[in-house]
Amino acid sequence: MGMKYHQKQAFVIGQNIAHSKSPLIHNYWLQKYNIQGRYDIRDFDESELPNFVKEVRTDENITGFNITIPYKQAIIPFLDEIEDTAQTIGAVNTVYKKSNKLIGTNTDAYGFMQNLKDHVKSNDFNALKTQPVLLYGAGGAAKAVLYGLVKDGFTHIDICNRTLSKTKNLAQRHKNKASIRVIDGLVKNVENHYVTFINTTSLGMAGHQDLEISFADAASLRLVVDIVYKPLYTDILRKAQKADIQIVTGIGMLLHQARPAFAKFFGHIPDIDKKLRELVLE
Ligand code: ATR
Repeated sequence: MGMKYHQKQAFVIGQNIAHSKSPLIHNYWLQKYNIQGRYDIRDFDESELPNFVKEVRTDENITGFNITIPYKQAIIPFLDEIEDTAQTIGAVNTVYKKSNKLIGTNTDAYGFMQNLKDHVKSNDFNALKTQPVLLYGAGGAAKAVLYGLVKDGFTHIDICNRTLSKTKNLAQRHKNKASIRVIDGLVKNVENHYVTFINTTSLGMAGHQDLEISFADAASLRLVVDIVYKPLYTDILRKAQKADIQIVTGIGMLLHQARPAFAKFFGHIPDIDKKLRELVLE
């Protein structure tokens, strides 16, 4: 006769996600804070999604899960509530339980903005809000980044993307809260009035095409942000550094988006330390 063993359990779900850094991050914190819990990968086909959700609802030990490619939208019909953040972004990356309900949220915008705030002094941050931003890309990551920027009070954002229809769609969601302009096609030469440049595309990532852009005409530019973290110092970040423009790397977004999820799953708000950064970049 065994005692029933209660151990909080969380997952990251997706398809072909063996490379996911989430188990590394969450298990690091479980160990650091000496919490009895587990965080594992569940890699499955879309046909298994209903069964997975059923398992989550029945198993009391499961406290929630993260969602990555390609289920960030597919999970939505299975949930009881969707928080505003996830609703506006149009994607759920975290599901947690609240009195037997499954609540979907999205921590990517928080992760992006928190990383930005880690690197930019608060005075400078406030100044940046009223100055023009060039957002590069209009995919899933751009949705979260734009949500974060608008929510935190950025007022002038221009968006460019290879596919114009996606840019228009993204701009439409936020048009009432900020001045958002749509640029047709990808910018090659940043104009001399942008103060912040943010890459949200996969261009520049190891194994992907280069992000071909010039900052040479943009003396106005003060900050270049990349959400790509592999390599940590992408070509655009190196280019910016050479021009004495402040840079923000992508690793902090990855780590910060995991913090509120960990807090929901395991009841403790974790910190990011040097060892975790190193571990994730290995
Ligand atoms: P994510 O969730 O990582 O943002 P996504 O939704 O597929 O992934 O978006 C990828 C982004 O990178 C998009 O802005 C995409 O441009 P399109 O909307 O035109 O597809 C951009 N992207 C990816 N590969 C690209 C390429 N080779 N050239 C230009 N843009 C590219």
